[in-house]
Amino acid sequence: MRVTMIGAGYVGLVSGACFAEFGANVVIVDKNSGRVNDLKKGLIPIYEKGLDDLVAKNVNNGRLEFQTKLSNNINGTDIFFIAVGTPSRRGDGHADLKYVYQVAKEIGENLNEYALIVNKSTVPVGTARKVKKIIADIKPDLTFDVASNPEFLREGSAIEDFTNPARIIIGVENQRSEDILRDIYKPLEKVKTPILSTNLESAELIKYASNAFLATKISFINEISHLSEVVGGDISAISQGMGLDERIGEKFLKAGPGYGGSCFPKDTLALNRIAQDHGVSSKIVQAVIEVNSNQKARMVKKITKALGGSLKNKRIAVLGLTFKPETDDMRDAPSLSIIPELSKKGAEIIAHDPAGIQEAKKFLPKDIVYVEEIDKGIKDADAVVLITEWDHYNKINMEEIIKLMKGNIFIDLRNFYDPELMKQIGFEYYSIGR
Ligand code: NAD
Ligand code: UGA
Repeated sequence: MRVTMIGAGYVGLVSGACFAEFGANVVIVDKNSGRVNDLKKGLIPIYEKGLDDLVAKNVNNGRLEFQTKLSNNINGTDIFFIAVGTPSRRGDGHADLKYVYQVAKEIGENLNEYALIVNKSTVPVGTARKVKKIIADIKPDLTFDVASNPEFLREGSAIEDFTNPARIIIGVENQRSEDILRDIYKPLEKVKTPILSTNLESAELIKYASNAFLATKISFINEISHLSEVVGGDISAISQGMGLDERIGEKFLKAGPGYGGSCFPKDTLALNRIAQDHGVSSKIVQAVIEVNSNQKARMVKKITKALGGSLKNKRIAVLGLTFKPETDDMRDAPSLSIIPELSKKGAEIIAHDPAGIQEAKKFLPKDIVYVEEIDKGIKDADAVVLITEWDHYNKINMEEIIKLMKGNIFIDLRNFYDPELMKQIGFEYYSIGR
């Protein structure tokens, strides 16, 4: 099977390398020539556990290669996967489909034989049909199919998620397309992955509904965490108590500074827009978005209050910048909302992150100081704020940390540490919902 994966981002690179590992011959095409040149030299442009070894292995066995020009890789391909970005369109929250449509146009202009064109990008309902129309308008006599195969991998565990997924969703219009997609995912029979085949619209909506549902769980627990804090509860116990009911489930019930990342924020906005476009109400999704935004603002208030109401000339050491651990992705990270506000209020910010500093520099105010070593950041700090729960921070010797600080305030926005232990060490310790 010959696969052309368009887009060498988090999804394209991981999916392309995994399909090669499954046995397909894969060309990953990206218009970013710097990225492709790096990949050709064996340099992986994103931080993702295990990806370097997987890419190297499949390049060496000849099943994986990288190209910049899609037009050179069109004929002879059995399946095209479109895995380009679908960011929020500036100002209105709609998914911006210009990259997807550009790819469809390039395929249409160059394809001369049957192929299956599959959307792996997260795209609004109706996009697969639009892709089909773009290609058909250019080549009215060409036989081809389109399909929707949304991707559910998470950053930080992307390879594991791709090779042992909860499900594969294939939205198709006919048996031929379904057979091709079932064939490429055949190796997943070993891990008994359910494959659900649907129509195009359902597949497209399953993706948004799944992300919005997970975001709903997070906003729900974040709202309860506020109440818990006020009434003297412990949100960790509350999540555990709720999660023990299998109908609720323990996952995605961890209170924190609000969800971030390249998907939940943009996909909840886009789902809201899709509903509006079809004249349907989406009150729950709107509330989820609002609660998430309030949660980030509440974190700023919490930090300010812990520091006595004013941040003027307060030195704050921040641990963790990325939207979650085990990634260098800074897209919509809660730190991007919280840190500029602290800085505006007069705080001096010294930030540490195990993988995200380079990306963070592109988005955070220029006066933020970054440190590679935690000790340097902590020295003389009035307070420490943990924003992202990297495992790395579990290994810190807190007794040493408190000695280096000027103050003793520790604000843990992920409930990562044991409150009793932190208090015993001498911290004035604050966390979420407890
Ligand atoms: P990304 O921004 O990391 O990568 C997209 C890549 O596509 C870029 O390298 C860009 O240069 C390339 N590209 C854009 N237009 C191109 C063109 N015309 N030809 C060739 N290359 C082109 O994006 P991502 O995070 O991998 O997300 C891709 C899609 O997958 C999005 O729709 C996203 O919502 C969805 N998704 C992402 C994740 C995730 O964890 N990041 C998980 C599931 C689904
Ligand atoms: C998410 C989904 O989990 C994937 O299934 C999906 O494929 C992907 O979006 C996508 O469409 O791109 P990802 O964004 O990588 O994956 O990360 P998650 O682990 O879902 O975390 C998202 C955000 O929610 C993070 O900021 C995380 O800290 C936060 N979160 C997560 C919580 O605050 N509490 C939780 O209990 C879980």
